[in-house]
Amino acid sequence: MARETRPDLGDNPELFTLVFNSIKDGISVLDKELTIVRVNPTMERWFSHEMPLVGKKCFEAYHGAHQPCNPCPSIRALEAKSPAEEAVPYQGPGGEILGWRELHSFPLVDESSNIVGVLELVRDVTEKRKYEDLLKQENECLKELDEIRQAFIIKATHELKTPVTNITGAIQLFEAMADPEAAGGTRSILAVLSRGSKRLQRLIMKLLDFSRAELKKLELDVQIVDLVPTVKDIINELEYKIKESDHRIALNLPPACVVRADQLRIEEVIINLLMNAIKYTPRNGKITVALDATPTHVKFTVADSGVGLTEEEKGILFTKFGSIHRRQYQGKIEVYGTGVGLFVSREIVEAHGGKIWAESEGRDKGSAFSFIIPKNA
Ligand SMILES: Nc1ncnc2c1ncn2[C@@H]1O[C@H](COP(=O)(O)OP(=O)(O)O)[C@@H](O)[C@H]1O
Ligand SMILES: [Mg+2]
Repeated sequence: MARETRPDLGDNPELFTLVFNSIKDGISVLDKELTIVRVNPTMERWFSHEMPLVGKKCFEAYHGAHQPCNPCPSIRALEAKSPAEEAVPYQGPGGEILGWRELHSFPLVDESSNIVGVLELVRDVTEKRKYEDLLKQENECLKELDEIRQAFIIKATHELKTPVTNITGAIQLFEAMADPEAAGGTRSILAVLSRGSKRLQRLIMKLLDFSRAELKKLELDVQIVDLVPTVKDIINELEYKIKESDHRIALNLPPACVVRADQLRIEEVIINLLMNAIKYTPRNGKITVALDATPTHVKFTVADSGVGLTEEEKGILFTKFGSIHRRQYQGKIEVYGTGVGLFVSREIVEAHGGKIWAESEGRDKGSAFSFIIPKNA
């Protein structure tokens, strides 16, 4: 079949005029004295009331002014010999702002590197600005809501703290007073009550610290602490959880490990890391807890033989609500969490001037979580 031969678009002598006339942004070419020498149809449409545009000064035609605007990107472009830009409002007859245009000015340079004029590329950004303003307003609203939420959590948890502290205290008193000969049932009920109330206390503390950490308002109550008995006490407290999952636990502790730290907060971090090791290791796992001291720092590590971490998971662990739901492990480990623990832990460790991190060789290869803090926080 014979093909009709058409001239190539690239060879069309009118190509540049075609391009110039087809661009939907405004194009205006000025000489060095800011006199308009050529415009495209978009500019003619926008400034139809000022026609003809060619021959007029840009500030007269486009801004109804008698002298150059200030600031003017085209003057800047001519002086600096490099592109300049500016957002300029356009006004109605009464001076009211009708919209905004973005003006990009490019110096025009001839073959001998002389500046001969300036090219103005004009884009209407009224709609874009409207959306930006709307987004800004929405953002303000969201910030306000977030502040209300934070204030609410802090208030509610504060209210909860007092009665729970009282209940925990009363249960401890009760335990101390209980007749050692009392029936096994009574003792185990007391143990359940005691564990439950301590857990509730820890949850409230976590929530409070979470809100404070969000506001960057964690205040430490620093004192001298030996981490060895601290770690041993925590392991005793979590003994029932470890037994429930048939994990073996190995301790690698020096005789003493003294630091200046906020005891309750550091306990919280250690509990978070240990609870995670227990939760994210399928039954019959191995958990190793180690404390090391250098002359200036102490390091705590808990390593497990659990589900491990992928590179992607490592990137989100310590973020706010950074929980990872691994449904494929349903029935083997806990698959849902709040994702608050490691975020709060990181804030606490960093408030002590320390660092916290996770290591793992990959899926099902176990993980190790460590933190290091200076001895004199
Ligand atoms: N020892 C661990 N092994 C594997 N994954 C872990 C371990 N510790 C934490 N993670 C992952 O990091 C996520 C964030 O932990 P965390 O902030 O303590 O939140 P949560 O335990 O409430 O989900 C968890 O959802 C879990 O998937
Ligand atoms: Mg956790």
